[in-house]
Amino acid sequence: MKPVNVGIVGLGTVGTGTFNVLNRNREDIARRAGREIVVTHVGARRDNGFATPGAKVSRDIFAVVNDPEVDIVVELIGGTTVARDLVMKAIENGKHVVTANKALIAQYGNEVFAAAQKKGVNVAFEAAVAGGIPIIKAIREGLAANRIAWVAGIINGTGNFILTEMRDKGRDFNDVLKEAQALGYAEADPTFDVEGIDAAHKLTILASIAFGIPLQFEKAFTEGITKIGRDDVAYAEELGYRVKHLGVARRTANGVELRVHPTLIPEARLIANVHGVMNAVMVMSDAVGPTFYSGRGAGSEPTASAVVADVIDVARVLTTDPTNRVPHLAFQADSLSDLPILPIEEVETAYYLRMDVKDHPGVLAKIASVLSEGAINIEAIIQKDQADETAPVPLIMLTRKVQEKKMNAALDKIRKLDVLVNDITRIRVEALSQ
Ligand code: HSE
Repeated sequence: MKPVNVGIVGLGTVGTGTFNVLNRNREDIARRAGREIVVTHVGARRDNGFATPGAKVSRDIFAVVNDPEVDIVVELIGGTTVARDLVMKAIENGKHVVTANKALIAQYGNEVFAAAQKKGVNVAFEAAVAGGIPIIKAIREGLAANRIAWVAGIINGTGNFILTEMRDKGRDFNDVLKEAQALGYAEADPTFDVEGIDAAHKLTILASIAFGIPLQFEKAFTEGITKIGRDDVAYAEELGYRVKHLGVARRTANGVELRVHPTLIPEARLIANVHGVMNAVMVMSDAVGPTFYSGRGAGSEPTASAVVADVIDVARVLTTDPTNRVPHLAFQADSLSDLPILPIEEVETAYYLRMDVKDHPGVLAKIASVLSEGAINIEAIIQKDQADETAPVPLIMLTRKVQEKKMNAALDKIRKLDVLVNDITRIRVEALSQ
């Protein structure tokens, strides 16, 4: 059978990894795809010295999508401006597309998939979520029998790498971030990693394929990890929890929760023990129950693993009728649900609270009474005695589940009590048990 011709656009960390994996595993890949897969054209705006034997190289990256010999365009330049034009042009030219671009899919996926469907081409995006973990395929196809209740994941390798190094080695935040950048884990703008934007891109995609809803990145709630202190990590451990930057998408009767924030997770959960650049995703489904997926979420060849798997998938369906292919977002495009995304104020979680308070009689009673008036149930409490009697006392509490807006109201009242030495630290808690 005639080989499938691939054009790779972008020869950075993932592009070079993709070229290497396709070449190194060429024989096994051909045996799996049923035909040879050959990189015939590479688009790279700059020469970085990486050799691509057998492939034509163009500095004008649009030359790849306009090349009549190319069957599949692999977009690995990232970003949402040129990449969007490039992908739309590739679709217009009748090319199938494989992309690792989570921002593009999360923000413009609805338009991209509509165009692709009209043209009868595939846009595959396994590498956009959790690097090398085949989570898109698992949810979209492996769990297709199930009604999915929630998806929770550590889906940013850089953030998890930073939290792990800070906790285990006491390393400085910026120092670890620099290492993540050197290792090719971090986004071009690393605030995307540490502020949860990258994770929200990925979570948006997961929620869409899990619940059959359109991509709605703009409604995702994000909170970063920059304010997590070493003390909070230590207190959480004392209470039997780990702090992770978690993305949670949950279907409720009123709508879908879509949120990324630092989270306390019971240390007994497998996901609480996923460290370094590793990513992990838990899915709770009605028929199979909980399932768990873990692996490298960033880096050259881990991400290339997902890109190449998509190339093979697309190569296999090149000759099939477009109406018989797996839908881009798991559910048929005309069957997406309009279940709303819930504002964070409507979300219900348990909380970890740390209040550094003045060491006076009655302070704890006043705080407890505000929580009680707000019908907020305290599950555990630790008061850290200080050697210096004039020093503030950290009060650490775990609460049971309460709606975010009720917790906000109670915290506002506590702030007015004149007992706090600095502002309250509040971290959401997820049991991930049901
Ligand atoms: N910056 C991302 C991460 C790369 O750290 O996980 C993979 O999407």
